[in-house]
Amino acid sequence: MLFARIIVFLSALLLTAALPLQPRASALNVAKCTNKSVKLIQHDCNVALLGLGGGIAGAIQFLRVNAQSTTAVSGTCRVTATAVDGGTTIDISKGRLEGHGSPNGGFENLLTACGPSPGSMVIGGGAKPQGNIQIAISAA
Ligand SMILES: *[C@@H]1O[C@H](CO)[C@@H](O)[C@H](O)[C@H]1NC(C)=O
Repeated sequence: MLFARIIVFLSALLLTAALPLQPRASALNVAKCTNKSVKLIQHDCNVALLGLGGGIAGAIQFLRVNAQSTTAVSGTCRVTATAVDGGTTIDISKGRLEGHGSPNGGFENLLTACGPSPGSMVIGGGAKPQGNIQIAISAA
């Protein structure tokens, strides 16, 4: 009887150890271009980016959205930011979102790699309570 209980206890221990404590982290700054022959207008994508979360143009320095995902469309282009890797809401600075060639990833790195054509990339950080932000461009 005691032996059986020890077996049950050890099995439970093994199962617990096998479950990941945190979701698997995405690779950062890796562009996934889905179809480079689709030509979007870069200015449309820039305007869509600044339309996220009700608008982050001008002096606004953060994209803060109390949802897992936010989308904006302008002309030919749709831009979506999604909290991934355990993230449930979005809280990212505009500088980090844009990226500017950062090894952490960013919208501008995605544009440089894909196009402007449809694709996605994960940017390090910027999600709550933890996690990263996936930025995606698609045809509107
Ligand atoms: C890529 O986009 C082009 C232009 O819209 C389209 O003709 C082609 O079928 C697409 N390829 C794939 C694999 O979806």
